[in-house]
Amino acid sequence: MVAVPRSLRSPLFVARDTPRLSGPPFTLGVASGDPLPGGVVLWTRLAPEPQTPTGGMPAEPVSVRWQVARDEAFGKIVRQGKALAKPDAAHTVHVDVAGLEPGRDYFYRFIAAGEESPVGRTRTAPAPDASRRPVRFAFASCQQYEEGYFTAHRHLADEDVDLVAFLGDYIYEDDPSDDKVRRHEAVEPTDLAGYRARYATYKADVDLQAAHAAHPWALIWDDHEVENNYAADRAQRDTVSPAEFRDRRAAAYRAWWEHQPVRLRAPTGPDVLMYRTLDFGRLATFQLLDTRQYRTDQACGSPVDIGAPCPDVDSPDATLLGDTQSRWLARALGRSRSRWNLIAQQVMVGRVNFAPTLPGGGIINLDQWDGYTAARRSLMKQLAQLAPNPVVLTGDIHSSWVHDLVAEGSVAGGSVAKGSDASGTSERVVATELVGTSITSSFPLEAIVRDAVASQPTIKYFEGTKHGYVRAEVDERQLRADFRYVSGIDAPTATVETGASFVVEAGRPGAQPA
Ligand SMILES: [Fe+2]
Repeated sequence: MVAVPRSLRSPLFVARDTPRLSGPPFTLGVASGDPLPGGVVLWTRLAPEPQTPTGGMPAEPVSVRWQVARDEAFGKIVRQGKALAKPDAAHTVHVDVAGLEPGRDYFYRFIAAGEESPVGRTRTAPAPDASRRPVRFAFASCQQYEEGYFTAHRHLADEDVDLVAFLGDYIYEDDPSDDKVRRHEAVEPTDLAGYRARYATYKADVDLQAAHAAHPWALIWDDHEVENNYAADRAQRDTVSPAEFRDRRAAAYRAWWEHQPVRLRAPTGPDVLMYRTLDFGRLATFQLLDTRQYRTDQACGSPVDIGAPCPDVDSPDATLLGDTQSRWLARALGRSRSRWNLIAQQVMVGRVNFAPTLPGGGIINLDQWDGYTAARRSLMKQLAQLAPNPVVLTGDIHSSWVHDLVAEGSVAGGSVAKGSDASGTSERVVATELVGTSITSSFPLEAIVRDAVASQPTIKYFEGTKHGYVRAEVDERQLRADFRYVSGIDAPTATVETGASFVVEAGRPGAQPA
């Protein structure tokens, strides 16, 4: 904790602005997110005792000062103000700072109860017409706390990127286990207090705090922020009624919002509009999607995600985005003036058959777009027709992939990817999909997939043993993606290296090894 200047420690300041707390309040770090050309959302939470139900805070609002400066020493403060950390938001603070300059680094901090927060660095988005400087970003997903240390975040903090897109599974709802590297604090959360405690466990991680403090993030949720493989108001195994599940979802979404630097209205129920757009000048637009809240239930009646395709996977009514979001996406893509249109979403779009020689269509992942083929056809049409150079960014599967996304038909009845333009067949490549591996979560199907992918030419790359993130850069000419892998997650420190690199040339969909 940084020492507070004497002037802020005066009895007058303490008495007027803050109650006495049981300890330093900034135990969960600081964060920024959803950058605009002129602004960014700043976040922190006051929690001197983060693992207690109240976070160790009194049941009253507490005033928090915030400052944004051009320099790390805060000699040139350009914006400052006060916000209220309220008990009904777990004493979190969301400040939507405006009036900043585009494409600039800024430093920020909070002051409360006579304590200063760590200093965060953020960066505003480029000006709307900017196209000269490349846009750099990273994306990551899936950080099961018990399965390893967040060594990837330590290295992510050191990258020079304009944005970190986090594609979901920020927390896992699992019960604690005794045979892992670390341990969850309590049983599976189902209510607001439980989810808040789970976020406190994750947010206390110093490497995660470092990655947040180094870059602005854009966050979307996947399933584990609520429950594994849930679909809209259906629990994974239908153990509770849709009405009960909506209560759980409301608590989970509320806790997610409380703990993330997102520019969204505070949730007050189970329905939360999370999908949104972020523009980075003329070079990049990110469409941030929600494939959990509006989806139809997984096909084929299986509570597990891996299974044989049944006719339902081709149902015209099966949806991952829902009608409203799908129409919104069409409008958003149509409006984009960007060279690169990045679709940040959760589950793998590219076709994968885990056992292509098995009779009856093999084995697919019913939780992914493979289980929703009509919806995928509609998405492919949108990507092909509405915006130039679409590239899909995906998490969820805890392994690294590059796919040629093609305009195609059914996966039921055994039709396996035959190939793509790049490999000399007739299927038209519409877009590239980059699937990033997990920060820590494990992928149990590595050996099976390694054998299966060789016969599926739309799969350009697969790696199923490593953890890390993807770093990417776009300019007028190309997108380059580096798959960054850490040497391990069993110990608190690790090295990082680039394991594979791919390039997509503007105007030529399909990734090539760099
Ligand atoms: Fe995951």
